[in-house]
Amino acid sequence: MTSMELPPQKQRSFEPTAEAQSGANISGMAAYRELASQAERDYEGFWAGLAREALEWRKPFGKVLDESNAPFYKWFEDGELNASYNCLDRHVAAGHGDRVAIVFEADDGTVTRVTYAQMLSRVSRLANALKRRGIQRGDRVVIYMPMSIEGIAAMQACARIGATHSVVFGGFSAKSLHERIVDVGAVAVITADEQVRGGKTLPLKQIADDALAMGGCDAVKTTIVYRRTGGYVAWRESRDCWLHEIVENEPDVCEPEWVGAEHPLFILYTSGSTGKPKGVQHSTAGYLLWAAQTMKWTFDWKREDVFWCTADIGWITGHTYIAYGPLALGATQVVFEGVPTYPNAGRFWKMIGDHRVSLFYTAPTAIRSLIKAAEADANVHPARHDLSSLRIIGTVGEPINPEAWMWYHRHVGGERCPVVDTWWQTETGGHMIAPMPGATPTVPGSCTLPLPGIMAAVVDETGQDVPDGQGGILVVKRPWPSMIRTVWGDPERFVKSYYPQELGGALYLAGDGAVRDKDTAYFTITGRIDDVLNVSGHRLGTMEIESALVAHELVAEAAVVGRPDETTGEAVVAFVVLKRARPQGEEAEQLAKALRDWVGKEIGPIAKPKEIRFGDNLPKTRSGKIMRRLLRSLAKGEAITQDTSTLENPDILNQLGQAR
Ligand code: PRX
Repeated sequence: MTSMELPPQKQRSFEPTAEAQSGANISGMAAYRELASQAERDYEGFWAGLAREALEWRKPFGKVLDESNAPFYKWFEDGELNASYNCLDRHVAAGHGDRVAIVFEADDGTVTRVTYAQMLSRVSRLANALKRRGIQRGDRVVIYMPMSIEGIAAMQACARIGATHSVVFGGFSAKSLHERIVDVGAVAVITADEQVRGGKTLPLKQIADDALAMGGCDAVKTTIVYRRTGGYVAWRESRDCWLHEIVENEPDVCEPEWVGAEHPLFILYTSGSTGKPKGVQHSTAGYLLWAAQTMKWTFDWKREDVFWCTADIGWITGHTYIAYGPLALGATQVVFEGVPTYPNAGRFWKMIGDHRVSLFYTAPTAIRSLIKAAEADANVHPARHDLSSLRIIGTVGEPINPEAWMWYHRHVGGERCPVVDTWWQTETGGHMIAPMPGATPTVPGSCTLPLPGIMAAVVDETGQDVPDGQGGILVVKRPWPSMIRTVWGDPERFVKSYYPQELGGALYLAGDGAVRDKDTAYFTITGRIDDVLNVSGHRLGTMEIESALVAHELVAEAAVVGRPDETTGEAVVAFVVLKRARPQGEEAEQLAKALRDWVGKEIGPIAKPKEIRFGDNLPKTRSGKIMRRLLRSLAKGEAITQDTSTLENPDILNQLGQAR
């Protein structure tokens, strides 16, 4: 994309209101610039200062950054701490034990509150129970749980004993769960009988049982089950136990396991360009530092705030801005079990009013679907609810179109709340490019400026800076504390994926395209430049979906591409060649449905193609390479204007161009 295609930013810029600016943690652009230049002047000193202030260390660190084995960077390595201690004990010790940590609202609207003292006790008892089952520092524990206080407590309990958790989103299939359990080498799985969302249940324990029966999971000696609904579950005495039973007689004191700053706090799987998901490994100190710091900077968090991030703990947003960031500060947060459209599409707005939420953080896909709903039914419009408590509203996960931004600003933020569009990734641990709400003027569709200390830039294919206004590849020039440490079990893949030689080997490659505005230097993200799709803010690898499709007995070949979608951002379109004649009409409908369900089973419902087109073949070059850019045009319904002279079989384009 070139700057020509972008609207001039100055015309649509929104200055922070006087109210947003006064008393903000970072107030005014001069304060932002001062921080950013501190980082430029003394990079290590800048980070060391933040790390000393934000975290409580058992043993202070001496060395800040170790670059000797780049790109395997180490931060604060000789320091020792515990993440759970930083999230719970220190607030209780400071006299804040009675402060509400979590306001949990269940799918049916039931509200449960836990204070910091209660949370500490719950986490400590579960941590003791884990230890009693032989789970130790360094062990990996897979968490496959619904949005719940117990899910957060499970993550914290792992952190407390130095076990590394790997949370798998409840929407993933048995097969995906199995793949992650095996890859991470889990010794235990923590799950629930069932998950409840939008009035529907999903049998998590049964899916976990299916996953564990797929073989190669012998290391899993324990399955801990949180009883959410009381629904039927199959039981294996030697392995399964109820969470409420194992914590019953445990003491509510558990000495935290002090770990080194680089100790892996968690591994979270995400999609890449190849078929196999990557286990993104995060550290303890650097990660937690940035989780806490960005709460203060991007959300301007203050003690009186009620924070609500609508993400699921199965994604990085739920890790950083539910399970760790808010707790690290001693914040009060809302945690929601359900979906935005149940019992109706006014649920979010009602909850903001009911809980007096002041900082709200959600995804563009949710906003877009709620706009549609509000336009169709005035009863679910935000105007029907009291949103006066809101102070700052944020978005994450995918580009937000300016129209949706403006609606959010107007109807949710009352034209008073800064909109923080936060660009980051599973690999970055926390926000990277985002406004500071008391300082940065915002522009619809732009995530604005890098946070202080984040050396983001736009380069060409050789790693050279491109001039502002010209599109290019988004990179980060210097390591930062909350960055990915490695791909679990595959350090080579880490280097190849994120520090490729083509860019010189010293730039972090984000996998996104970006353009920086000529006048404001603001960043606009133009989307992934690799084979990763972003559907409703969920990251999906095209190869992953293709592998799932070709694993079906009828499928000979498959190619998957993305197509822009009004609500979900992108939609999955699959071009499929069967081992038998191309189906048509009714048969094609039925087979498409069967294949969609198959992908749902292989990966999870989020990966189901929106559209499947059958062909006798795929467009290929004479050397047999599939021409994906042509497929992308076909999926969009565009006329093919590209050169097709190198195609082996140009006629196939006509066939594939017809949607069923
Ligand atoms: O393409 C970018 C998009 O989401 C990708 C990261 O996905 P994931 O690791 O699942 O993390 C999502 C939550 C942090 C990025 O490479 N993305 C994320 N935030 C934005 C975005 N694209 C545009 N604007 C954003 N604010």
